[in-house]
Amino acid sequence: MIGGHRFLYGGDYNPEQWPEPVWTDDVARMREAGVTTATVGVFSWADLQPRQGAFEFGWLDRVLDLLHAGGIGVDLATATASPPPWAGTGHPDLYAVDERGARYWHGSRQHYAPTSVRYRRLAAELVHAMAERYVDHPAVQMWHVNNEYGCHVALDHSASAERAFREWLQDRYLTIGGLNDAWGTSFWSQRYGTFDEVTTPRHAPYSRNPAQVLDFRRFSSDALLECYLAERDVLRAAGAIQPITTNFIGFNKNVDYRTWAPEIDVVSDDCYPDPAHPDGYRHGAFERDLVRGLSPDRPWLLMEQASSAVNWRPRNAPKSPGQMAAWSMQSIARGADGILFFQWRQSRAGAEKFHSAMLPHAGTGTRTWREVCALGARLRELPALPAAAPAPVALVHEWENWWALEGTDHPADLDHQQVLTAWHLATQDEHLACDVTGAAGPFGDRRVVLAPALYLLRAEAAAALVAFVTAGGTLVLTSFSDVVDECDRLREGGFLTQLRDIAGIEVLEHAGVPDDAARAVGQLDLTLGGIVEDVEAREATVLARFTDGPYAGGPALTRKTHASGGSVVYAAGQLDRASARAVLQLVVPQDARDPDFEGLPEDVEAVRRGGVVFVVNHAAHPVHVRVGGTDLDLESQEVAVLDGTRRV
Ligand code: GAL
Repeated sequence: MIGGHRFLYGGDYNPEQWPEPVWTDDVARMREAGVTTATVGVFSWADLQPRQGAFEFGWLDRVLDLLHAGGIGVDLATATASPPPWAGTGHPDLYAVDERGARYWHGSRQHYAPTSVRYRRLAAELVHAMAERYVDHPAVQMWHVNNEYGCHVALDHSASAERAFREWLQDRYLTIGGLNDAWGTSFWSQRYGTFDEVTTPRHAPYSRNPAQVLDFRRFSSDALLECYLAERDVLRAAGAIQPITTNFIGFNKNVDYRTWAPEIDVVSDDCYPDPAHPDGYRHGAFERDLVRGLSPDRPWLLMEQASSAVNWRPRNAPKSPGQMAAWSMQSIARGADGILFFQWRQSRAGAEKFHSAMLPHAGTGTRTWREVCALGARLRELPALPAAAPAPVALVHEWENWWALEGTDHPADLDHQQVLTAWHLATQDEHLACDVTGAAGPFGDRRVVLAPALYLLRAEAAAALVAFVTAGGTLVLTSFSDVVDECDRLREGGFLTQLRDIAGIEVLEHAGVPDDAARAVGQLDLTLGGIVEDVEAREATVLARFTDGPYAGGPALTRKTHASGGSVVYAAGQLDRASARAVLQLVVPQDARDPDFEGLPEDVEAVRRGGVVFVVNHAAHPVHVRVGGTDLDLESQEVAVLDGTRRV
């Protein structure tokens, strides 16, 4: 609980974009809307420090005092996501550089090189000055470090990045021989004589060394994490006792949030599903499950969402009536303890003037405003909720697997997000609660673990998966799994070397095919594609065989059942959503399903959090449903919150 509120409600507040008299109106309106929390200062560096060494905190003092007097708590941002023009002028080393050596300049945001000594020093000075001034300010309830690390620029090739990359590699491999071995540099005459010869994977004539690219991804995520930790440590050293967060952006390929989450007091996420996409709310559900899984025992915060349209898609659809509240309640149901927006008042100038806000340009006579006020009131009515209980089904998501899987020169290009989304959507179609976890677990009492396309599989993770099956769990694997080690090298002995025994099969060959290219029939009828495999079923039962494609007649789905009752189901291709659903129907035991959610229509989402059930009608039409003995008539986008049989 932050600031004594069961649920935080509010958004990014950028008062520096407005004349001071507007601020008083802002606070009055925030109170009207039920706002508890304003995130202040995210992009305020230039206003807080117009010149090096010259801080101007007077305006921020007045903003914080005003908010505090109005009973609004502050999530105070450290303002380091967009260094002002003076910081880089005459100091090109502050800017990030792309793979062709072209510099990013100021005039947008996030143009800094994460390893730049100057950037880090200036950021630390600013954060120190802010902390000295505000750690004890009664309005400050949370600190918000930087903003969406790695959202725009994560892969920096500046000179400082190159230096830091070499040091990172030296720490990892100790000797240049160790690096050569890990990167397989005997191939194409890439052998390095010293660490000084190693570069970031710059623009190159043809395919780059995949292990180098993979390490560069790891290094780049770590370099950003160092920026976060440096700011956090400055805040703590100055006496900050409030929780500290930095806002994640769900499926952000650039940052391995699983390594970050333990360093963060409250995980927070910015989530912008497309309201025009028929699966928009399902994409939202997947992201919320991912974020919840990063700190499973603690609630998280939805730090940013849009009240209606964004500005950055080619076509920006507004949210339909009720959709904003429905998607907000989905977040609460899936573990959030706060709903916040980008942003409080719509900007008049700048790149985001057409991005929706809680208080639109057209003012308080708008549907958006009415819905914002109604949601604030609704959140005040909700009972306190515990962190969500572990789900019986888990879906494995690993950043380093994502990086490696999407490397070049594979039998086919697989889109990691697409592969995993098919599975998560299938769990939603089945109304199954699903956690998103790392490959090494812990899997606890889970019944089914879904691990599609787990191409890069570390020995520890393989051992955890084997232990899960040995203890009675069901593991579902799909093609192109357990192929390489953490350096993207094949292990001795071909494919599936670590999971071969528990799967009871041998993978002989891969074939790249179009998505949905191969059909299979048998106990289940399936559509497979992407990478299909020539599989030999040794100790596994063949549940379906390919009817076409390069391996027609061969096993497409196998199952090996173990004495423990555990089993491994292996699909020799990537499955589409309907096929994934068919596999779930086969493997998820009845007692792992929520009996209250049986028979619900597809567009009705039902989620249990503690003793409370959230039922959301995402369909465009009204529905009648029965959940746990309670009859519900729900309009489109209506949300029922059931505490037992009582609707709250
Ligand atoms: C986020 C960012 C906000 C705003 C928003 C627009 O990525 O943190 O500052 O730009 O997107 O949707």
